[in-house]
Amino acid sequence: MSILVTGGAGFIGSNFILNWLSSNDEPLICLDKLTYAGNLKNLAGVLDDPRLVFVKGSIEDYGLLLELLKKHRVRAVVNFAAESHVDRSIHGPEDFIQTNIVGTFRLLEAMRFYVARLVNSEKDPFRFVHVSTDEVYGSLDIKDPPFHEDTRYDPNSPYSASKAASDHLVHAYHRTYGFPAIITNCSNNYGPYQFPEKLIPLCLHNALAGKPLPIYGDGQQIRDWIYVEDHCNAIQMVMQHGRVGETYNIGGQAEKTNLEVVRTLCDILDEKKPSPCGASYNEQVKFVRDRPGHDRRYAIDTTKIVREVGWRPTESFTTGIRKTIDWYLDNQDWVAEVTTGDYREWIEKHYLT
Ligand code: NAD
Ligand code: TYD
Repeated sequence: MSILVTGGAGFIGSNFILNWLSSNDEPLICLDKLTYAGNLKNLAGVLDDPRLVFVKGSIEDYGLLLELLKKHRVRAVVNFAAESHVDRSIHGPEDFIQTNIVGTFRLLEAMRFYVARLVNSEKDPFRFVHVSTDEVYGSLDIKDPPFHEDTRYDPNSPYSASKAASDHLVHAYHRTYGFPAIITNCSNNYGPYQFPEKLIPLCLHNALAGKPLPIYGDGQQIRDWIYVEDHCNAIQMVMQHGRVGETYNIGGQAEKTNLEVVRTLCDILDEKKPSPCGASYNEQVKFVRDRPGHDRRYAIDTTKIVREVGWRPTESFTTGIRKTIDWYLDNQDWVAEVTTGDYREWIEKHYLT
């Protein structure tokens, strides 16, 4: 039997696959559409591994999903496949509706058909883990308690609204059909293989290229940052120990303002790779127009996953950000390869003018 990982050529999915294959013998099927955010280079070290089968395709393709589920006798599915960038969702929400909502629906339908035909001994242990975000809960004020699993959904961006819709569908399939699903809602990830459109890799990339580091609005928005490997470990543990029908919040216990994050990054870069012109990278910080509907703060209460699943993050922001910077400095070829698309033009047009 095997595990189907959708979106496994993206940032978190590829880290999940690399992490899994370093400690498990069970085979994986990776289904990925290879959008701008998915790159086979992320899996370069394991593409020849007999435990991994890569299939290019979409979670919207019901026929393909059913074929893969049957052919590989899939015993669990982890769904990372998504359009994931808030700014892109503001610019053009259509793909977010298609993949995040319609795609999740098709995946649920294919799994429901497949699982209904399994013998009981295979049906009972089947698991679907739907990987989602804390952004579905909306925005917190500074004095508010962190998000917990019962916090009301209140999404503000087309991205978070599409993820919220997908979570509701997953939840409904559990309640209506008894489908064995678990939802995880995680905070902001950082680490290797993150596409340089998100705050940390974008600022790393721009710093080294001598370009402005765009800080939206006043830079006092707060995110909880988690090192991607900690998130991947949490998902593995939820697959094993999580209760069907439940939601688990995952966070890194590291609330930082955006400005703090970028200043930290500049200070570490000043130490590891001083700018050829001798100035601190901090001087490249540029306050730009705010993101429309920008959520002020996200924070996560991890009590439930700690208590029920026994998971805790192992990386602090101080250790994780240094590992991340080292990885990007050592993998500038990867950065050059994935940044040839349209995103820089878009960012410049929308935020730097
Ligand atoms: P990503 O954008 O880096 O990767 C998404 C992957 O999905 C890409 O490989 C892409 O090619 C693939 N994909 C897109 N549409 C597809 C489709 N229709 N069919 C199959 N594959 C498709 O995203 P990420 O940051 O790795 O996020 C993965 C998941 O985790 C997403 O569901 C996201 O909502 C969730 N999440 C992300 C964060 C974060 O900070 N990045 C935090 C919490 C939750
Ligand atoms: P991002 O990495 O896009 O993740 P998300 O929007 O899912 O939280 O952004 C993280 C925070 O950084 C968010 O508050 C927006 C802000 N931000 C900037 O200030 N400048 C940037 O260039 C980007 C991409 C994000």
